[in-house]
Amino acid sequence: MPARKGTTSAGGIDTLMTEKRKFKPSTKFTAQANGKKSLYTTANKDYVKFWEDMASELVWKKKWREGLKWKAPDAKWFVGGKLNVTESCLDRHIHNGRKNKAALIWEGEPGSHRTLTYFELYRQVNKFANVLKMLGIKKGDRVAIYLPMIPELMVSTLACARIGAIHSVVFGGFSPESLRDRINDLGAKLLITADGGYRRGQIVPLKHDADVALHDCPTVEDVVIVKRGDFLLRFKEGRDHWFHRLMQEADAYCPPVYVDAEHPLFVLYTSGTTGKPKGIVHTTGGYLTGVYATTKYVFDLKEDDVFWCTADVGWVTGHSYLVYGPTANGATQVMYEGAPDWPDQDRFWEIVEDYGVSVFYTAPTAIRAFMKWGKHWPGRHDLSSLRLLGTVGEPINPEAWMWYHEVIGNKRCPIVDTWWQTETGHIMITPLPGVTATKPGSATLPFPGIEMKILDDDGKEVKNGGGYLAITRPWPGMLRGIWGDRKRFVETYWSKWDGIYFPGDGAKVDSEKYLWVLGRVDDVINTAGHRISTMEVESALVEHEAVVEAAVVGVPHELKGEALAVFVTLAGDLELDQKLRARLKDFVARKIGAIARPEQLIFAPDLPKTRSGKIMRRLLKDIATGKVLGDTTTLADPDVLYQIKAHYEED
Ligand code: WTA
Repeated sequence: MPARKGTTSAGGIDTLMTEKRKFKPSTKFTAQANGKKSLYTTANKDYVKFWEDMASELVWKKKWREGLKWKAPDAKWFVGGKLNVTESCLDRHIHNGRKNKAALIWEGEPGSHRTLTYFELYRQVNKFANVLKMLGIKKGDRVAIYLPMIPELMVSTLACARIGAIHSVVFGGFSPESLRDRINDLGAKLLITADGGYRRGQIVPLKHDADVALHDCPTVEDVVIVKRGDFLLRFKEGRDHWFHRLMQEADAYCPPVYVDAEHPLFVLYTSGTTGKPKGIVHTTGGYLTGVYATTKYVFDLKEDDVFWCTADVGWVTGHSYLVYGPTANGATQVMYEGAPDWPDQDRFWEIVEDYGVSVFYTAPTAIRAFMKWGKHWPGRHDLSSLRLLGTVGEPINPEAWMWYHEVIGNKRCPIVDTWWQTETGHIMITPLPGVTATKPGSATLPFPGIEMKILDDDGKEVKNGGGYLAITRPWPGMLRGIWGDRKRFVETYWSKWDGIYFPGDGAKVDSEKYLWVLGRVDDVINTAGHRISTMEVESALVEHEAVVEAAVVGVPHELKGEALAVFVTLAGDLELDQKLRARLKDFVARKIGAIARPEQLIFAPDLPKTRSGKIMRRLLKDIATGKVLGDTTTLADPDVLYQIKAHYEED
C-alpha cells in the first residue's frame, strides 16, 4: 500500500469508496457511439493485433513488419514501418472531402477570431516546414517552441513533424530559467516564440523572457518570432527573424520526410521526484496510433462535431488532444488563447455557445473554479450543443463530477474521466461513452488493449482495495525514454517491479474492477492539474540568500486540488515577515513559473529529519493540513517538529 494513500489528493477523494452512484449510458447515445463493447473483447484476444488494426487507419509510406518488439523496458511498435504523421493529420483530408472543413476555430483573448480550414492549415504547415529547412533544420534536429495559444503553435509543431525535426514545446507560463534549462538539455538549434501573448488582459512578454533565457543557450542559432501584437521587443539582427516575413518567401509545398515508426516525434518536459525536469521522449508510429484511436473512441468524434480541449499545448494534453489526435481524425476544433475568467467568468460558456461546441474536455481544477463562480454564469448561455464532456489531469471529486454532469451537461452528456500521463502519451483509463457505465470519481476501466492492475509493494495483485497503479503490458504511445538519461528512465518507471511500468500513482479497485485513482505517491504535487516536483521548488528556494533549507509539501486546495506549502529555515536570525514571505513566493514564481507559486510559507527553525538525514515530508504535511502527527519515532530530533508546530499555530 502507498505510504500516503488517500492523503495526497483533492478533498472528497478519501470517501470515494463509499460513492455508490452509477450512470448507465443512454440508449440514444449508445446507438450512435463509435465505441462498441466488442472492442474490449477483440482487444483482449490479441492486443497487438488490435493496435495494428488501429494503425491501419492511418497513412503509412511503408507498412510495418512486426506489430511489437518488446523487451522490458524497451518497446518498438510497428517495426520497419515508415510514415510522416502530417500525412494522416493533413494531406489525407485534402483529398477525402475535408479540404474546406474547418480544422481550427481560434479565438484570441482580446476577442479576435480566425478559422483555418484543413487546406489552409496544410498550406501553412508546408510553408513553415520550408522555412525550417531554409534555416538549416534537418531530420532529428531539436526545435524549442515557446508560444502563446495561437494557430502558429499548431503550425510549428506540425511543420517540425513534416521534416522529421523533434519539437519541444515549453509552456508560455514558464520562466526564462525553465526555458533555458530545457533548451540546453535538448541542445535545440532553433527557438520559435512570439513578441507576446495575452493572459487575463495582461501581456506576457515571451520574446523578452526568451532573450533572457538565450543569454545562456549556446546551441540556439536562430529565433523565429510570431507577431501576435504590437509588443516592443529587441531584435537581434542575424539571429532573429519574423515569422510572417519568412512565410512570404516560402514555397507552398514541402514534401514530407518519411521517418521510421520509432523516430522521435517530440520531447516534452515534466516534473519528476528529483530537481531536474525529465524530457519525455515520444516516437512517431505508436504515439500517433494511440492518440488517433483514443480520440476516435473516447471523444466519439463525428464529422460535424466541434471538439474543444481547453489544455495549453505546453502540456501533454494539448499535444495529444489538440495537435495530433483531432487532426488525425479530421475533426473541427476550437482553440482559445486566454483565461476562462476574462473578461468575465462565462468566457468558456460564451465560446461553447458561439461555436456550437459539442465535445468539451477540461480539467477538474477548472470545474471547481466554475463551481465557485456559480451556475448563473453557464446559465446565461445556450449549452445545448454539448453532447459529451471529459476531464483529465487529476482526480475529480464526486461533488465536482456531479456539478459538471448537472450544470454543464444538463444530465444529458456522458462524462469521460480520463487518466493518463505525459509518459503514457494518450488516455489509458477511461469510460467508453455509450458503453461504460460511469461512477462519479472513477476513471473506470482501462481503454481496450490496455492492461492495468493494482499491485502491492511485492507486485502481488490487489483484487479489491488499495495499492499502486501499474501498467502491465506495453502500449503504443508509451514513452521510449528520458532524453539523455537512460538510468533515470529505468529507475523511475521500471524498477519497482519486473517488466511492469510504475506511473507513481496510488489507486483503488472495487468489486466491479473499476479503478479509482487517488493521486501521486511520490514527491510530486499535482496543482491545478500540473505536476510540480517538490525537489524543484526546494532547490529554487535555497538559491535565495535568505533560505538555508526548504521542504515542500502538497496540501488540499479548494480549487487547485493541491497547493504548495513550504517550510523554510532562514539564514541568521531573519524573520519570516510579510515582506519576506511575498519575496520568497515571487522568487519561486520567477524561477519556475507562476504555477509553482507557494500558497503557504511556514517558518521552521530546523527541518524534521531521520537519522540518515532524510527530510520527513509526511510529518510536515500533517502539520500543514492540521492532522494529528504521524509516527515520529524515526526522527533524529522529534522536538523540532513541535517547535515548527508551535510556529505554525502562532501564524
Ligand atoms: C494525475 C496529464 C486522477 C495522475 C494528462 C497522473 C489523474 C498525473 C487523472 C499525470 C485522472 C491525470 N484521475 N488523476 N483522470 N489524469 N491524473 O503528466 O497523478 O501532467 O500521474 O499528464 O496526473 O500528469 P501529466
